Amino acid sequence: MTRAPYISIHVPSALNGQRPTTKDVIAAFVHEIGAGRLPGGSRLPPVRVLERQLGLSKNTVQIAYEELVARGLIVTRERDGAFVASRAAAHGLPLAVSEPPVPQLRPSPLLFASPPAEGMLRLSAVFIDPSLLPKERFSDCMRSVLRSPGLAPFYDAQGYLPLRQAIARRLELRGMDVRPENIVVTVGSQQALDIVCRALEVRRMATEDPVYPHARLLFESHALAVSGLPLDPFSPIDLDLWESRLRAHRPGLFYAITSFQNPTGYSYTTGEIQSVCELAARHQFALLEDDWGSDMLSDSEYRPSLRALGGENVLYVNSFTKKILPALRIGFIVARADQVPSLVAAKRLSTLASAPLMEAALEEFLSRGYYDTHLAELQRELDARYELCVASLRELMPAGVRWTTPGGGPTLWLDLPRAVDLTALRARMAERRVHIEDASFAFYGAPHLHGFRVSYAFLAPGDLRRALEMLSEEIRRS
Ligand SMILES: Cc1ncc(COP(=O)(O)O)c(C=O)c1O
Repeated sequence: MTRAPYISIHVPSALNGQRPTTKDVIAAFVHEIGAGRLPGGSRLPPVRVLERQLGLSKNTVQIAYEELVARGLIVTRERDGAFVASRAAAHGLPLAVSEPPVPQLRPSPLLFASPPAEGMLRLSAVFIDPSLLPKERFSDCMRSVLRSPGLAPFYDAQGYLPLRQAIARRLELRGMDVRPENIVVTVGSQQALDIVCRALEVRRMATEDPVYPHARLLFESHALAVSGLPLDPFSPIDLDLWESRLRAHRPGLFYAITSFQNPTGYSYTTGEIQSVCELAARHQFALLEDDWGSDMLSDSEYRPSLRALGGENVLYVNSFTKKILPALRIGFIVARADQVPSLVAAKRLSTLASAPLMEAALEEFLSRGYYDTHLAELQRELDARYELCVASLRELMPAGVRWTTPGGGPTLWLDLPRAVDLTALRARMAERRVHIEDASFAFYGAPHLHGFRVSYAFLAPGDLRRALEMLSEEIRRS
């Protein structure tokens, strides 16, 4: 049985170096309880502990406790110890300490109105169906690392070197010139973004609009002035519009989700990536690429990244969390070697280090070849679910509904006629136990699209089909 920790008590004569008597012990408790400083229910030190602490002779405390029980100030419970009697019993005194004020916290920036209730079909999740994730193989790696005598007693704040070496090798295969010295391991790519913000000198940023809301809210929470460059996933990027916005806002950094953009599913063409690099050079802003969608579909590896085309000045973040296990929480930043010390310093301030145990287990997972085997299986399954999703939309959705066809990543964007009231639709879907999200948080002002993300990676095929059938029925009813 877990026991409550016991409170400590000062007996004044002991503080003077004298041996307290039973009377002193009683007086000390009467004083503290009477002053309301020992709340009812607090566990008292066991007799022998207090005797040892205070250097008392045997039975001094036992006799004092018996007297306190007799006075109704404490109670004893067999095999459990002695406790301050509830305040009502012990004189009914209010707590004598002054109540300190409530810490002043900023209001939560996370305004997500209606999280999915337990058991709802989550059409909005960016996660992959847990049944497709390699829990057993990862457990093997974890066990092997825990048994290994080589597990370092300390940590490398930049990240476990063998893991950085393995990541660098993978990125090189994707056309990026990256060495282990360029990599900082993080707690997911969310922390990667946070670390970049902590280290940033610039105060103005731009992102796509709409954008992954946790990124925008994070940037704003770092007091960065952020503006959005409109992205219409049904058309090529309007580079002239972007240039005029960039000229007006003058950001020092542009955050871009170049593959399977969250929330639209849009992927930049190679030409658009080149144009973004040209804009960056012309208007002198740096680039931060979030490559979250890589590894998530068969063809995803062959898309050139901004980091591959733009070179070493591009900051790059990515993560293993979605693709292996959400509980893994490992991501990374790629930066020029001369920028790494600032990023590592920012990481130290944030968390000192990412968990070396997880880093070592992930390295084991990569070096045993499990990640590649897993990706091959995962991509096959995600391809099938993607095709099911798109075929179902084609079959079920009424005229006027359109959707993006990202060909990768976990979600696509479903766009509805303006006549459909999204709030009412969400409510009716919730009644039918299907969660669709409020995507308005992804936009900077009034949304220029009229829809939400649909995930095909999270739900089992039967559930996905059922959820889409209900969605089509409710859209037709709107
Ligand atoms: C675009 C994008 N970037 C970063 C993240 C953060 O992911 P994680 O911290 O799990 O790696 C997410 C999470 O959904 C995301 O959608």
